[in-house]
Amino acid sequence: LGKKIINLKAVDSTNSYAQKLAKQRYPEGTVVFAESQTKGRGRLGKSWLSLEEKGLYMSVIFRPPYKAAKTQLITPLTAAAVCSALRDFKLDAMIKWPNDIYISEKKVCGILSEISLKANKPSYVIVGIGINLNHKKDDFPIDLQHKSTSIRAEMGCPIDKQEVVKNLLFYLNMFYEEFIVKGNINSSISVCNKYSLLKGKIINVKNKEHIITGLAGEITSNGSLMIKDKVGTVKDVITGEVIKF
Ligand code: BTN
Repeated sequence: LGKKIINLKAVDSTNSYAQKLAKQRYPEGTVVFAESQTKGRGRLGKSWLSLEEKGLYMSVIFRPPYKAAKTQLITPLTAAAVCSALRDFKLDAMIKWPNDIYISEKKVCGILSEISLKANKPSYVIVGIGINLNHKKDDFPIDLQHKSTSIRAEMGCPIDKQEVVKNLLFYLNMFYEEFIVKGNINSSISVCNKYSLLKGKIINVKNKEHIITGLAGEITSNGSLMIKDKVGTVKDVITGEVIKF
């Protein structure tokens, strides 16, 4: 990863840009960075605050040789890489399944994975990572201030973007290599479990139209989350949005 790096000043969305490159057959491991985004995208149609010079906005092209279900493991893999990279700075980063990183119960990073299928088989995956680096508290809009944080706010001093990038690419490479060479993501999943923000909490997960309530348990090797409901039935939730925890 990172053999081909594209640095942009401004772009609509690094994910959209990387998608165009992937269609033009750019190789696996191509990384797109932008200083700012005008249409940063989040999951579920939300937008992503992309202030100039404050955050890290990047997207990576992956081409794992797997079917769709296994390819989706790229999300927990990336969460494990971001979490490990931030923990090296002595930050108490935690993973909020399926795709957010939190510090002090506030969101510091979001991951957006977009799989492109061709004849029902994945042809590439774009993994977008947005990390709040040097935002001050009041850089966030009022409605985000109580639920978002930045590395600067947590460390009490500014952080060098390149240091974070270096660390992040190191862990992404490491976890991805295991995924490709050994075909499993055991080390990524164990990081997800070790630093799981939800484990042991009563949570509400919105999954399509219904809401599942129960005690959050382990994240499985399929990337799903085990939830035990009131009567003790254990459900294996493939994906969803945790709306209360
Ligand atoms: C989320 O929390 O909903 C996911 C947010 C993902 C944001 C990143 S920033 C870089 C990349 N480009 C985008 O447009 N989105 C992702």
